[in-house]
Amino acid sequence: MKFTALNRISSFVLLACTLTLVLSCKRPVDEIEVLSETPLREAYAPFFKIGAAFAVGEYGTDFRTKYASDILNEYNSITPENCMKPDQIQGVKGQFRWTYADRIVNWAKANGKVVRGHTLVWHSQSPSWMTEGGEAAARANMKTHIETILARYDETEIYAWDVLNEAISDDASGSHRTSSPWYIAYGDSSYVRDAFSFARQANPNLQLFYNDYNVATSLTKRNAIKAMIEEHNLVEDNLIDGIGFQAHWGITYPSPSEIAETIDLFADMGLKIHITELDITCNASERDLLEARYDEIFAVFREKADKIDSVTFWGIADDYTWLDNFKGFKNYPFLIDTKHERKQAYYTVRDAAL
Ligand code: XIL
Repeated sequence: MKFTALNRISSFVLLACTLTLVLSCKRPVDEIEVLSETPLREAYAPFFKIGAAFAVGEYGTDFRTKYASDILNEYNSITPENCMKPDQIQGVKGQFRWTYADRIVNWAKANGKVVRGHTLVWHSQSPSWMTEGGEAAARANMKTHIETILARYDETEIYAWDVLNEAISDDASGSHRTSSPWYIAYGDSSYVRDAFSFARQANPNLQLFYNDYNVATSLTKRNAIKAMIEEHNLVEDNLIDGIGFQAHWGITYPSPSEIAETIDLFADMGLKIHITELDITCNASERDLLEARYDEIFAVFREKADKIDSVTFWGIADDYTWLDNFKGFKNYPFLIDTKHERKQAYYTVRDAAL
C-alpha cells in the first residue's frame, strides 16, 4: 500500500493521541516514589490509628509472605480476622487454643503494633456447647470464656475488645437479636450486661466496645443500639467505652451525612468510635468509583477525628477479601490492589491527610 501524505498525517495524529492518553493516565514515576515515603499510619497519626484485619495461619493462610510487609508499612493497629472468635479459641469446652492468638499478639509486640481483640460474645462462629444447659450454665460459660482470655492478654497486649458483636436484629422492629443463642439461653437481653461487666471486672484497664454492622446505614438499627446501651445502663455504670462501626459499606451507601450523624449520635452519649471492619463492596465495573467513595468517607473521618480513635480495614489488599465469598462475586474493596500495589485511591486518601 502506498503511504500517501494523508495517511502520514493521520498516523501522526493517532500517535499523538495515544501518547497523550498514556501520559495522562500515568502518574509521573518520581512523584509516586516521593509520596510513598509516608505510609498511611504516618499520614493519619494526627487523626487516628490505621489498622487492618488479617489471619496468621489459621485456614492455611500464610500472612508472612503475602501480607507482612504491607502490615508493617501501612498500619499501626491489627485485628485478628478469626483466631480470637469463640469457636476458634474455645471450640471445645475448657480447651483454649492459643496458638494463633498468641502468634498475632507476639507478632504485634515485636513489630510495635497495637491489637484490637475480636470478639468475646457473638451469636455466630461460636460453639453450641457455650449456650447449652440453661441460663446459669450459659452465664458460667461466658464468665469463664471472658475471664480466661482477658487473663492471658493484658492491656499492653490487647488494648481494646469487641466485647459483644451484632446483638441487634436487622428487621424493621429494631429489637434485640432474639435468635441469638445467648438471648435464647438467658430468655432475654440481660446477657448483654453480663458480657460487659465480666470484661470490665476481669481487667478495668481495657477499652470495651459494642461492634455491629449497618450502624450508619440504618436509622432503626443505630437507635436500637442506643436503646440497648441505655436499657442496660452501660454508660452510667461505666461498662462500655465505645462503639465499633463494622463499616462493610457500599459504593453509594451510607451517605457521608449518615456517617457523620451516627458518629455524633454515639459520641454525644460519651462513647468513642472505632471503625472496625472497613471495606467497600465493589465489583469489577465499579472500580472507577472507589477513589471518590474513599475520598468522601475519609473526609468525614478526618472531620470527626476528635471522636474517632481507630480506623481498621477488614483486610489488606484485593487479592483476599471475605466479601468474595460473602457476596458471591469478586470484590475490589481496598486501597491496595490484587498485586499489592497502591491504587490511586490510596494516594488520594493518604495525601488528604498530609
Ligand atoms: C468474617 C471473616 O472475615 C471470614 O473469614 C469468616 O469466614 C466469617 O467472618 N462481621 C464480623 C467479622 O464481625 O468477624 C466477620 O468476619 C465479618 C462480618
